[in-house]
Amino acid sequence: MASYETHTHDYDVVVVGAGGAGLRATLGMAEQGLRTACVSKVFPTRSHTVAAQGGIAASLSNMGPDHWQWHMYDTVKGSDWLGDTDAMEYLAREAPKAVYELEHYGVPFSRTEDGRIYQRPFGGHTTEFGEGPPVQRTCAAADRTGHAILHTLYGQSLKNNAEFFIEYFALDLIITDGRCTGVVCWKLDDGTMHVFNAKMVVLATGGYGRAYFSATSAHTCTGDGGGMVARAGLPLQDMEFVQFHPTGIYGSGCLITEGARGEGGYLTNSEGERFMERYAPTYKDLASRDVVSRCMTMEIREGRGVGDDKDHIFLNLMHLPPETLHERLPGISESAKIFAGVDVTREPIPVLPTVHYNMGGIPTNYWGEVLAPTADTPDAVFPGLMAVGEAGCASVHGANRLGSNSLIDLVVFGRAAAIRAGQVIDREGAIPSTNQAEVDRALDRFDTLRNATGGTSTAELRDKMQRTMQADAAVFRTDKTLAEGVEKMTEIAGAMDDIKVTDRGLIWNTDLMETLELTNLMPNAMATIVAAEARKESRGAHAHEDWPERDDATWRKHSLAWVEGNKVKLDYRPVHMDPLTTQQEGGIDLQKIAPKKRVY
Ligand code: FUM
Repeated sequence: MASYETHTHDYDVVVVGAGGAGLRATLGMAEQGLRTACVSKVFPTRSHTVAAQGGIAASLSNMGPDHWQWHMYDTVKGSDWLGDTDAMEYLAREAPKAVYELEHYGVPFSRTEDGRIYQRPFGGHTTEFGEGPPVQRTCAAADRTGHAILHTLYGQSLKNNAEFFIEYFALDLIITDGRCTGVVCWKLDDGTMHVFNAKMVVLATGGYGRAYFSATSAHTCTGDGGGMVARAGLPLQDMEFVQFHPTGIYGSGCLITEGARGEGGYLTNSEGERFMERYAPTYKDLASRDVVSRCMTMEIREGRGVGDDKDHIFLNLMHLPPETLHERLPGISESAKIFAGVDVTREPIPVLPTVHYNMGGIPTNYWGEVLAPTADTPDAVFPGLMAVGEAGCASVHGANRLGSNSLIDLVVFGRAAAIRAGQVIDREGAIPSTNQAEVDRALDRFDTLRNATGGTSTAELRDKMQRTMQADAAVFRTDKTLAEGVEKMTEIAGAMDDIKVTDRGLIWNTDLMETLELTNLMPNAMATIVAAEARKESRGAHAHEDWPERDDATWRKHSLAWVEGNKVKLDYRPVHMDPLTTQQEGGIDLQKIAPKKRVY
C-alpha cells in the first residue's frame, strides 16, 4: 500500500475546475455563505473558457425582436431533438437574467450606440420559430467574451471569500455509502496529497477535446471529471456527439469565431463559390455548425477544396469594414496573422472543421445534480455530486450545440447548481469525515502510475488514441470506420496496463501528470467510439453514412456508457419530453417544438 502524508480540508462545497461553470458555481455558493473551495489544475483565468470568443446567447432583444421561446425552439432544433425539454426551457428562460447578472458583476460587454449590450448573429439562432430572419442574440465582448467573463467571475469569487486551491490536480472522488463525500487531490508544485471532505462536490472540469488529434480545445481539456465518474462506476451520457467547429485554422486548429460569419464573413471553395447558399438557402453561412462542417467536408471530398492539396476551405473577411474588424474581431485578426500568416483585410483565412465541443458528458438534471440512472429510475440522483459546464450533460445541446449556447450553459447551470446546493445542503450538519479506505484506493492508483515501468510511453499511446479518434469518429462516420475504431481503441485502452512513466522520482512530474490525464481521456474516448458504433442513425453531429436518416422511433433516446478499463457497457434513458411550464402557464406550445426535418 502507498504511504503518502495527506493534508485534510473540510468544506461545505468543493468545486473542481475554475472555468466559466466552475467559477459561476463557486461564486453562487460563496454568495450564500457556504464554505466553498475551488480546486483547479491551472490558474483560474487560464481555464479554457478564456478562449471562448464569439459570445453568449440570451434573448435580450437589444438589436431587434427576440423571445426566450424562439431561443428555446432554436436550441431544440439545434439539438436535433435529443435535448431534454425541461433543461432547454430552463436555459432559454434563465439566460437573460444570467447575462444581466454578469453585466452587474462587471463583465465589459461591447455596447450599442445607446449603451446596451451589443449582440451579433450566430449560426442556428433565428426569429419566429425558425420562420423569420436570423436574430442578433449573441452578447459579445468583442471576440474575447470568455476572457471577460472568466476574469470577472474570478474577481467576484475572491470578493465573496471563496477559497482557491490553484494547481491542484483532482485524482479521484471519495464515495461513501452511495454518496460523494469528497475528492483526493495532488498539489502540483510540491507533490503533497490533499483530501477535501465536503457535503457537495461539483465537477466543472470541462470537455475532453484532447482525445482527438486536432482540436480547438486547450491541452488541459482532458475530461478529468468524466474519468473520475467512470472510475466511480457511474455512466457517461451521449458521448457519441462530438462537435466539429467549421472554422479552425488549417494546420493549427486554432479557433476563428463563428462571430466572423455573424459579422458578415463567408466561406468559399476553390471555384470562389459561396457554396453554403446551395446547401442552406435560407441561413447560408449561419446554418447550424454540424451542417456547415458537413458541407465543407463534402466540398473537399468532391474536389472543390482550396490549397495545393485541395484539403481546406477559405473564410473571407476582406470585404468587412476595417472598423468592424478592429472593434468586433480584433483577436481573430491577430490569430489569423500568427497561425496562418494571413492579413484578414487582404486575404482569406484557410480553415477546416476542427473538434471543438463535447455535447455528451456526466448526466445531470437541470439543477446540475448527477444522475445514477437505472432502468426503473432513469432520473435517480447520485447524492453529494454535481456536474456543470462541458463536463456535464443536462442535456441542453442534445446531438449538436448552437454556437454561443456554451457560455450561457456555463453560467445558467453553474448558477442553478449553486441555487440547488443552497436548498439541499444541511448547513448545520457535520462535514463528512475522511473515508480512509477511499483515500488509500486513490493513492494506490496514483502510486501504481507513478511507478509504472511498462513498455509504452504515455506520449506514444496518447498519439495513437488521438489519431484513431480523429480518423474513425470523424465528421462523417460509417459502420466500417466505427467498427475499426472500436477495435483499435479497445487495443489502445488495453495498453494502459503497459504504460511507462518517464519522470519517476523527479520533483517536476510532467509525464506523470500527462499519464493521469490520459487515464481520464481514455474512458471518454472509449465511451465515444462505442456509443457512436451502436447508434444506427444520423442525428446532429453524428452523421452516419450507412444510416443517413434520423430515426426518432428507435433512437430518440440518450445513450449511457459505463466504462471499465477497455470495456464499455451501453444502455439508454428516455429524453425528457415535458416542459417546465404548460402553455397555459406561459410556456411554449409543444406543437412548435414537435420533431420535423431539420433544414436551414
Ligand atoms: O465560434 C465561437 O466563437 C465559439 C463559440 C461557441 O462555441 O459557443
